[in-house]
Amino acid sequence: MNTVLVGAQWGDEGKGKVIDFLTEESDVVVRFQGGSNAGHTVVVGDKKYVLHLVPSGVLHDGKHCVIGNGVVMDPFDLMKELEQVESWGFELKGRFHISERAQMVMQWHRALDRAEEAVRPAGKKIGTTGRGIGPAYAAKVGRYGMRVGDILKPDFLDMVRSQVEDANIKLKALGAHELDADDMVKLYAPMVPALMPYVTDTIQFLHESLDAKKSILFEGAQATMLDIDFGTYPFVTSSNPTAGGACTGSGVSPRAIDRVIGVLKLYTTRVGEGPFPTELFDADGETLRSRGGEFGATTGRPRRCGWFDAVVARYAQRVNGVDFWAMTKLDVLDTFPVVKICTGYRRKDGFVYQTFPADLEALKDCEPVYEEMPGWQCETSKITDYAALPENAKAYINRILDLIGGKLGVLSVGPARETTLRINV
Ligand code: GDP
Ligand code: IMO
Ligand code: MG
Repeated sequence: MNTVLVGAQWGDEGKGKVIDFLTEESDVVVRFQGGSNAGHTVVVGDKKYVLHLVPSGVLHDGKHCVIGNGVVMDPFDLMKELEQVESWGFELKGRFHISERAQMVMQWHRALDRAEEAVRPAGKKIGTTGRGIGPAYAAKVGRYGMRVGDILKPDFLDMVRSQVEDANIKLKALGAHELDADDMVKLYAPMVPALMPYVTDTIQFLHESLDAKKSILFEGAQATMLDIDFGTYPFVTSSNPTAGGACTGSGVSPRAIDRVIGVLKLYTTRVGEGPFPTELFDADGETLRSRGGEFGATTGRPRRCGWFDAVVARYAQRVNGVDFWAMTKLDVLDTFPVVKICTGYRRKDGFVYQTFPADLEALKDCEPVYEEMPGWQCETSKITDYAALPENAKAYINRILDLIGGKLGVLSVGPARETTLRINV
């Protein structure tokens, strides 16, 4: 069984937790896009692990973890994270693999990310994570990027030098500090022996795994509404976090994928700039943020919070072909007397958008159309059996499923591993 798991909203839906849960029945976990902009949290017992580049399956000894060709990998972030994973007591030898085709995020990409963001005028800022993601993907598409395999080449450090010189032209034009080429060469020289043991042809590795009937789990980072093609462009990330990205970012054919799981928080959050139709600025938003611990796992920024948006979720169902939903954070809604579901966006002239418009200007004068449902006002975080959920909570979930399609596969009622209910997967 080969499974693609994607975020269905604006990220931070709880993908890390669900990946950790599904890893038990998988052999290989693959990251296929994004980079260290991701922050995936897994809570086991009283320990909290946050992963950025390393697949969340790493917390299961013996499972293989792959950084696919579609990822942009910062070698410094990666080495730091690998050390951390080892310090947690997990052995990586022989089970961690980096694609030689993956692109590298270099120091100048990070500098450019910050410099580009700094010169964007108010209203045009993206609120990036500052991890160099946009410039690294720009280099890839512009065909001047550096691939992981380049570290194995004798002229790797010459490439570093020439790339710094090119980047400095852009940094200077943006009014930012230029980088010293000698410093960069010194910085990157030790990367070669450190990374070498992990670099491999992951396409070959994944196809051998498929031939051996192993189960592959594709771990999406970011989410549908942050997708460069399907998201709220230009307030998006620079990759394809949607299901198709799993194929282009790993070298595995769509025909090898058996199912798609979408992760859906039972309300909505967004971190960074850009439209968010159901955003709340009142006490309810504050309650979601504090009960849900809605602070970025990568940047620590407070996340914007709002009611569940069925327009977004239905769109995500279509774009990804979601078979099963992993719905998370039901427990965060436990105290609300009323819960709301957005079913459309009403324009001033009365027209209601029932699908997400491409033109963000269209959203400016829109108001969300809400259905209100009674809350359940009791604690759900100790519930281990779906049947034991309060009737109002089941009604809320069922109404969402009616509106968006797909089946419920997993329900999460707390951060810890054991607070995960298996329904249909
Ligand atoms: P990801 O980026 O999609 O992996 O999600 P993050 O890790 O950035 O954010 C999800 C946050 O919610 C983390 O702090 C998780 O520990 C937490 N979490 C996940 N599922 C649940 C849940 O069902 N209930 C509660 N209360 N917290 C959850
Ligand atoms: P996970 O995998 C939430 C957002 C940033 C910014 C935009 C572009 O943890 O769900 P970038 O640094 O990618 O160029 O920033 O995308 N963003 C995320 N928001 N969760 C993430 O990852 C995100 N990764 C990027 O806040 O708005
Ligand atoms: Mg996250």
